[in-house]
Amino acid sequence: MIDPFGRSITYLRVSVTDRCDLRCVYCMSEDMTFLPKPDVLTLEELDRLCAAFIRLGTDKIRITGGEPLVRREVMTLFRSLGARLGNHTANGGLRELTLTTNGSQLTRFAGDLAAAGVGRVNVSLDTLDPAVFASITRWGKLEKTLDGIFAAKAAGLAVKINAVALKGVNEHEFDRLLAWCGEHGFDLCLIETMPLGDIEGQRSDQYLPLSQVRARLRKNWRLEDTDYQTGGPARYFTVAETGGRIGFITPMTHNFCESCNRVRLTCTGTLYMCLGQDDAADFRPLLRGGASDDEIDAAIVSAIGRKPKGHDFVIDRRDEAPSVSRHMSVTGG
Ligand code: 5AD
Ligand code: SF4
Repeated sequence: MIDPFGRSITYLRVSVTDRCDLRCVYCMSEDMTFLPKPDVLTLEELDRLCAAFIRLGTDKIRITGGEPLVRREVMTLFRSLGARLGNHTANGGLRELTLTTNGSQLTRFAGDLAAAGVGRVNVSLDTLDPAVFASITRWGKLEKTLDGIFAAKAAGLAVKINAVALKGVNEHEFDRLLAWCGEHGFDLCLIETMPLGDIEGQRSDQYLPLSQVRARLRKNWRLEDTDYQTGGPARYFTVAETGGRIGFITPMTHNFCESCNRVRLTCTGTLYMCLGQDDAADFRPLLRGGASDDEIDAAIVSAIGRKPKGHDFVIDRRDEAPSVSRHMSVTGG
Protein backbone atom coordinates (compact mmCIF):
# COMPACT_ATOMS: atom_id res chain seq x y z
CA MET A 1 0.00 0.00 0.00
CA ILE A 2 1.43 3.37 -1.01
CA ASP A 3 0.09 6.55 0.58
CA PRO A 4 -0.43 9.92 -1.17
CA PHE A 5 3.11 10.98 -0.25
CA GLY A 6 4.73 7.92 -1.78
CA ARG A 7 5.39 6.17 1.53
CA SER A 8 4.99 2.42 1.57
CA ILE A 9 2.77 1.39 4.49
CA THR A 10 3.97 -1.95 5.81
CA TYR A 11 3.70 -1.61 9.58
CA LEU A 12 0.53 -1.89 11.66
CA ARG A 13 0.33 -1.12 15.35
CA VAL A 14 -2.67 -2.60 17.09
CA SER A 15 -3.89 -1.41 20.46
CA VAL A 16 -5.75 -4.33 22.00
CA THR A 17 -7.01 -2.48 25.06
CA ASP A 18 -7.07 1.09 26.38
CA ARG A 19 -6.71 -0.25 29.93
CA CYS A 20 -3.55 -0.44 31.94
CA ASP A 21 -2.46 -1.57 35.37
CA LEU A 22 -0.27 1.56 35.69
CA ARG A 23 -1.00 5.28 35.43
CA CYS A 24 2.17 6.88 34.07
CA VAL A 25 2.00 10.62 34.65
CA TYR A 26 2.82 11.56 31.04
CA CYS A 27 0.31 9.08 29.66
CA MET A 28 -2.82 9.05 31.80
CA SER A 29 -4.60 10.94 34.48
CA GLU A 30 -5.08 9.01 37.69
CA ASP A 31 -8.79 8.45 37.25
CA MET A 32 -9.22 7.44 33.65
CA THR A 33 -12.53 6.47 32.15
CA PHE A 34 -12.11 3.40 30.01
CA LEU A 35 -14.16 2.15 27.11
CA PRO A 36 -17.22 0.02 27.73
CA LYS A 37 -16.51 -3.63 26.82
CA PRO A 38 -19.04 -3.91 23.95
CA ASP A 39 -17.24 -1.10 22.12
CA VAL A 40 -14.02 -3.07 22.10
CA LEU A 41 -13.41 -5.46 19.22
CA THR A 42 -13.22 -9.14 20.02
CA LEU A 43 -9.89 -10.86 19.52
CA GLU A 44 -11.40 -12.59 16.47
CA GLU A 45 -12.39 -9.24 14.98
CA LEU A 46 -8.90 -7.87 15.61
CA ASP A 47 -7.36 -10.95 14.03
CA ARG A 48 -9.57 -10.60 10.96
CA LEU A 49 -8.47 -6.97 10.47
CA CYS A 50 -4.83 -7.93 10.93
CA ALA A 51 -5.25 -10.66 8.32
CA ALA A 52 -6.61 -8.08 5.89
CA PHE A 53 -3.62 -5.80 6.48
CA ILE A 54 -1.25 -8.70 5.91
CA ARG A 55 -3.01 -9.52 2.62
CA LEU A 56 -2.44 -5.90 1.60
CA GLY A 57 1.29 -5.95 2.27
CA THR A 58 1.73 -5.35 6.01
CA ASP A 59 4.79 -7.30 7.11
CA LYS A 60 5.18 -6.08 10.68
CA ILE A 61 2.59 -5.96 13.45
CA ARG A 62 3.15 -4.52 16.90
CA ILE A 63 0.64 -5.24 19.65
CA THR A 64 0.27 -2.30 22.03
CA GLY A 65 -2.23 -0.73 24.40
CA GLY A 66 -2.83 0.43 27.10
CA GLU A 67 -1.11 -2.61 28.50
CA PRO A 68 -1.76 -5.44 26.05
CA LEU A 69 -1.04 -8.18 28.59
CA VAL A 70 -3.93 -7.12 30.84
CA ARG A 71 -6.45 -8.04 28.16
CA ARG A 72 -8.09 -11.37 28.92
CA GLU A 73 -7.06 -14.23 26.66
CA VAL A 74 -4.75 -11.95 24.66
CA MET A 75 -2.45 -14.92 24.03
CA THR A 76 -5.10 -16.28 21.66
CA LEU A 77 -4.44 -13.29 19.39
CA PHE A 78 -0.66 -13.72 19.66
CA ARG A 79 -1.03 -17.36 18.70
CA SER A 80 -3.28 -16.70 15.72
CA LEU A 81 -1.05 -13.89 14.46
CA GLY A 82 2.05 -15.93 15.20
CA ALA A 83 0.66 -18.70 13.01
CA ARG A 84 0.73 -16.22 10.13
CA LEU A 85 4.50 -15.73 10.55
CA GLY A 86 7.03 -17.76 8.68
CA ASN A 87 5.49 -17.81 5.25
CA HIS A 88 6.95 -14.43 4.47
CA THR A 89 8.18 -14.13 0.89
CA ALA A 90 9.35 -11.28 -1.30
CA ASN A 91 5.74 -10.66 -2.25
CA GLY A 92 4.09 -10.73 1.09
CA GLY A 93 3.34 -12.28 4.43
CA LEU A 94 3.97 -11.34 8.04
CA ARG A 95 7.65 -11.04 8.87
CA GLU A 96 7.60 -9.77 12.42
CA LEU A 97 5.23 -9.79 15.39
CA THR A 98 6.23 -7.64 18.33
CA LEU A 99 4.84 -6.16 21.50
CA THR A 100 5.11 -3.00 23.57
CA THR A 101 4.49 -3.64 27.25
CA ASN A 102 5.11 -2.15 30.67
CA GLY A 103 6.57 -5.51 31.69
CA SER A 104 4.39 -6.02 34.74
CA GLN A 105 2.89 -9.27 33.39
CA LEU A 106 5.93 -10.63 31.58
CA THR A 107 6.91 -13.15 34.21
CA ARG A 108 3.63 -14.87 33.38
CA PHE A 109 3.63 -14.46 29.60
CA ALA A 110 7.23 -14.32 28.33
CA GLY A 111 7.44 -18.03 27.57
CA ASP A 112 4.08 -18.10 25.77
CA LEU A 113 5.00 -15.02 23.74
CA ALA A 114 8.23 -16.61 22.57
CA ALA A 115 6.39 -19.83 21.74
CA ALA A 116 3.83 -17.85 19.71
CA GLY A 117 6.62 -16.45 17.53
CA VAL A 118 7.27 -13.07 19.12
CA GLY A 119 10.99 -12.39 18.79
CA ARG A 120 11.36 -8.98 20.38
CA VAL A 121 9.59 -6.96 23.04
CA ASN A 122 9.76 -3.27 23.89
CA VAL A 123 9.47 -2.71 27.61
CA SER A 124 8.76 0.73 29.02
CA LEU A 125 11.16 1.54 31.84
CA ASP A 126 11.89 5.18 32.56
CA THR A 127 14.05 4.77 35.65
CA LEU A 128 15.99 2.24 37.73
CA ASP A 129 15.16 4.03 40.96
CA PRO A 130 12.26 2.36 42.83
CA ALA A 131 10.95 5.63 44.30
CA VAL A 132 11.12 7.48 40.98
CA PHE A 133 9.49 4.50 39.27
CA ALA A 134 6.64 4.62 41.77
CA SER A 135 6.18 8.33 41.26
CA ILE A 136 6.18 8.13 37.44
CA THR A 137 3.88 5.12 37.17
CA ARG A 138 1.77 6.06 40.23
CA TRP A 139 0.85 2.39 40.84
CA GLY A 140 3.87 0.47 39.63
CA LYS A 141 6.55 -1.55 41.41
CA LEU A 142 9.99 -1.45 39.84
CA GLU A 143 10.85 -4.96 40.95
CA LYS A 144 7.89 -6.48 39.16
CA THR A 145 8.87 -4.82 35.89
CA LEU A 146 12.51 -5.86 36.29
CA ASP A 147 11.45 -9.45 36.98
CA GLY A 148 9.37 -9.27 33.80
CA ILE A 149 12.29 -7.96 31.78
CA PHE A 150 14.57 -10.76 32.95
CA ALA A 151 11.85 -13.33 32.30
CA ALA A 152 11.68 -12.05 28.72
CA LYS A 153 15.44 -12.34 28.36
CA ALA A 154 15.40 -15.84 29.82
CA ALA A 155 12.67 -16.82 27.34
CA GLY A 156 14.99 -15.79 24.50
CA LEU A 157 13.18 -12.58 23.57
CA ALA A 158 15.29 -9.63 22.41
CA VAL A 159 14.52 -6.75 24.77
CA LYS A 160 14.45 -3.07 23.97
CA ILE A 161 13.97 -0.65 26.84
CA ASN A 162 11.86 2.43 26.08
CA ALA A 163 12.35 5.43 28.35
CA VAL A 164 10.47 8.69 28.07
CA ALA A 165 12.82 11.59 28.85
CA LEU A 166 11.31 13.71 31.62
CA LYS A 167 12.84 16.95 32.74
CA GLY A 168 13.85 16.93 36.39
CA VAL A 169 12.55 13.37 36.81
CA ASN A 170 14.85 10.88 35.12
CA GLU A 171 17.14 13.21 33.21
CA HIS A 172 20.21 12.39 35.29
CA GLU A 173 19.75 8.65 34.98
CA PHE A 174 20.43 8.05 31.34
CA ASP A 175 24.11 7.20 31.85
CA ARG A 176 23.10 4.59 34.38
CA LEU A 177 20.31 3.24 32.19
CA LEU A 178 22.68 2.99 29.24
CA ALA A 179 25.27 1.14 31.31
CA TRP A 180 22.62 -1.22 32.71
CA CYS A 181 21.24 -1.96 29.26
CA GLY A 182 24.75 -2.60 27.97
CA GLU A 183 25.42 -5.01 30.82
CA HIS A 184 22.30 -7.05 30.09
CA GLY A 185 22.33 -6.89 26.30
CA PHE A 186 19.27 -4.66 25.90
CA ASP A 187 18.94 -1.85 23.39
CA LEU A 188 17.78 1.46 24.85
CA CYS A 189 15.44 3.88 23.18
CA LEU A 190 14.78 7.37 24.53
CA ILE A 191 11.53 9.14 23.63
CA GLU A 192 10.43 12.77 23.81
CA THR A 193 7.05 13.36 25.47
CA MET A 194 4.31 14.12 23.02
CA PRO A 195 1.23 16.24 23.76
CA LEU A 196 -1.33 13.43 23.61
CA GLY A 197 -4.44 13.62 25.75
CA ASP A 198 -5.19 15.45 28.96
CA ILE A 199 -3.02 14.62 31.93
CA GLU A 200 -2.75 16.21 35.34
CA GLY A 201 0.08 18.70 35.41
CA GLN A 202 1.83 20.58 32.70
CA ARG A 203 3.48 18.90 29.75
CA SER A 204 5.82 21.81 29.20
CA ASP A 205 7.25 21.10 32.67
CA GLN A 206 8.09 17.52 31.64
CA TYR A 207 9.40 18.15 28.17
CA LEU A 208 13.11 17.54 27.66
CA PRO A 209 14.58 17.77 24.15
CA LEU A 210 16.66 14.73 23.29
CA SER A 211 19.23 16.87 21.48
CA GLN A 212 20.31 17.95 24.99
CA VAL A 213 20.29 14.42 26.33
CA ARG A 214 22.41 13.15 23.46
CA ALA A 215 24.96 15.94 23.91
CA ARG A 216 25.25 15.06 27.60
CA LEU A 217 25.59 11.34 26.93
CA ARG A 218 28.39 12.04 24.47
CA LYS A 219 30.55 13.27 27.34
CA ASN A 220 30.75 9.72 28.68
CA TRP A 221 30.01 7.47 25.73
CA ARG A 222 31.14 7.12 22.14
CA LEU A 223 27.96 7.06 20.08
CA GLU A 224 28.79 5.81 16.59
CA ASP A 225 26.56 6.28 13.58
CA THR A 226 24.88 3.14 12.32
CA ASP A 227 22.30 2.48 9.67
CA TYR A 228 20.52 -0.01 11.95
CA GLN A 229 16.73 0.32 11.55
CA THR A 230 13.85 -1.54 13.14
CA GLY A 231 11.17 -0.17 10.89
CA GLY A 232 10.16 2.29 13.61
CA PRO A 233 10.90 5.99 14.02
CA ALA A 234 14.07 5.73 16.13
CA ARG A 235 17.47 6.91 14.95
CA TYR A 236 20.11 4.53 16.32
CA PHE A 237 23.73 4.76 17.38
CA THR A 238 26.11 2.03 18.47
CA VAL A 239 27.58 2.58 21.92
CA ALA A 240 31.28 1.79 21.47
CA GLU A 241 31.87 0.99 25.16
CA THR A 242 29.05 -1.57 25.48
CA GLY A 243 28.50 -2.73 21.92
CA GLY A 244 24.81 -2.06 22.52
CA ARG A 245 22.58 0.37 20.72
CA ILE A 246 20.84 3.55 21.72
CA GLY A 247 17.94 4.99 19.75
CA PHE A 248 16.33 8.42 19.92
CA ILE A 249 12.69 9.04 19.06
CA THR A 250 12.33 12.77 18.54
CA PRO A 251 8.82 13.65 17.47
CA MET A 252 9.22 17.13 18.91
CA THR A 253 12.70 18.26 17.86
CA HIS A 254 12.79 16.45 14.55
CA ASN A 255 9.85 15.57 12.44
CA PHE A 256 10.29 11.97 11.34
CA CYS A 257 7.09 11.86 9.31
CA GLU A 258 8.75 11.77 5.90
CA SER A 259 9.77 8.16 6.44
CA CYS A 260 6.57 7.07 8.20
CA ASN A 261 5.58 3.53 7.23
CA ARG A 262 2.88 2.86 9.81
CA VAL A 263 -0.75 3.24 10.78
CA ARG A 264 -2.50 2.49 14.06
CA LEU A 265 -5.60 0.49 14.84
CA THR A 266 -7.39 1.11 18.13
CA CYS A 267 -9.12 -1.58 20.12
CA THR A 268 -12.49 -0.28 18.93
CA GLY A 269 -11.53 -0.75 15.29
CA THR A 270 -10.69 2.84 14.42
CA LEU A 271 -7.71 3.19 12.15
CA TYR A 272 -5.69 6.34 12.76
CA MET A 273 -3.49 7.21 9.85
CA CYS A 274 -1.22 9.39 12.03
CA LEU A 275 -0.48 9.44 15.77
CA GLY A 276 -0.72 13.22 15.74
CA GLN A 277 -3.76 13.83 13.55
CA ASP A 278 -7.45 13.04 13.75
CA ASP A 279 -7.77 11.43 10.30
CA ALA A 280 -9.42 8.07 10.90
CA ALA A 281 -11.52 5.26 9.47
CA ASP A 282 -13.92 3.20 11.57
CA PHE A 283 -13.90 -0.52 10.77
CA ARG A 284 -16.24 -1.67 13.51
CA PRO A 285 -19.47 -1.00 11.58
CA LEU A 286 -18.04 -2.94 8.64
CA LEU A 287 -16.96 -5.88 10.80
CA ARG A 288 -20.24 -6.02 12.68
CA GLY A 289 -22.34 -5.32 9.58
CA GLY A 290 -21.23 -8.46 7.80
CA ALA A 291 -18.75 -6.92 5.34
CA SER A 292 -16.89 -9.30 3.04
CA ASP A 293 -13.09 -9.57 3.01
CA ASP A 294 -13.05 -7.62 -0.27
CA GLU A 295 -15.05 -4.79 1.27
CA ILE A 296 -12.71 -4.63 4.24
CA ASP A 297 -9.65 -4.62 1.97
CA ALA A 298 -11.15 -1.80 -0.11
CA ALA A 299 -11.87 0.26 3.03
CA ILE A 300 -8.27 -0.17 4.20
CA VAL A 301 -6.86 0.90 0.84
CA SER A 302 -9.13 3.93 0.82
CA ALA A 303 -8.06 4.89 4.36
CA ILE A 304 -4.37 4.67 3.47
CA GLY A 305 -5.20 6.98 0.57
CA ARG A 306 -6.05 9.60 3.19
CA LYS A 307 -2.88 9.34 5.29
CA PRO A 308 -1.82 12.88 6.22
CA LYS A 309 1.67 14.21 5.58
CA GLY A 310 2.62 14.42 9.24
CA HIS A 311 1.96 15.62 12.76
CA ASP A 312 2.47 19.15 13.97
CA PHE A 313 3.14 18.70 17.66
CA VAL A 314 4.08 21.75 19.65
CA ILE A 315 4.46 22.13 23.38
CA ASP A 316 3.44 25.64 24.25
CA ARG A 317 3.58 27.07 27.76
CA ARG A 318 0.77 29.48 27.01
CA ASP A 319 -1.49 26.89 25.47
CA GLU A 320 -1.47 23.66 27.44
CA ALA A 321 -4.14 22.00 25.32
CA PRO A 322 -2.91 18.69 23.89
CA SER A 323 -2.28 18.59 20.13
CA VAL A 324 -4.62 15.65 19.89
CA SER A 325 -7.16 14.78 22.55
CA ARG A 326 -6.62 10.99 22.41
CA HIS A 327 -4.27 9.52 24.98
CA MET A 328 -1.40 7.35 23.78
CA SER A 329 -3.19 4.44 25.49
CA VAL A 330 -6.08 4.83 23.03
CA THR A 331 -4.13 5.12 19.80
CA GLY A 332 -1.37 2.74 20.81
CA GLY A 333 2.32 3.47 21.29
N1 5AD B 1 4.66 10.92 24.93
C1 5AD B 1 5.69 10.07 24.68
N2 5AD B 1 5.68 8.78 25.00
C2 5AD B 1 4.58 8.30 25.59
N3 5AD B 1 4.29 7.07 26.02
C3 5AD B 1 3.05 7.09 26.54
N4 5AD B 1 2.52 8.33 26.46
C4 5AD B 1 3.46 9.11 25.88
C5 5AD B 1 3.53 10.48 25.52
N5 5AD B 1 2.53 11.32 25.74
C6 5AD B 1 5.25 5.95 25.88
C7 5AD B 1 5.27 4.92 26.95
C8 5AD B 1 5.70 3.68 26.23
C9 5AD B 1 5.40 3.94 24.81
C10 5AD B 1 4.37 3.03 24.26
O1 5AD B 1 4.92 5.26 24.71
O2 5AD B 1 6.17 5.19 27.96
O3 5AD B 1 7.08 3.44 26.34
FE1 SF4 C 1 0.22 2.18 31.09
FE2 SF4 C 1 2.11 2.46 29.26
FE3 SF4 C 1 0.43 4.48 29.73
FE4 SF4 C 1 2.26 3.78 31.56
S1 SF4 C 1 2.66 4.59 29.50
S2 SF4 C 1 0.07 4.20 31.95
S3 SF4 C 1 2.37 1.61 31.34
S4 SF4 C 1 -0.12 2.52 28.90
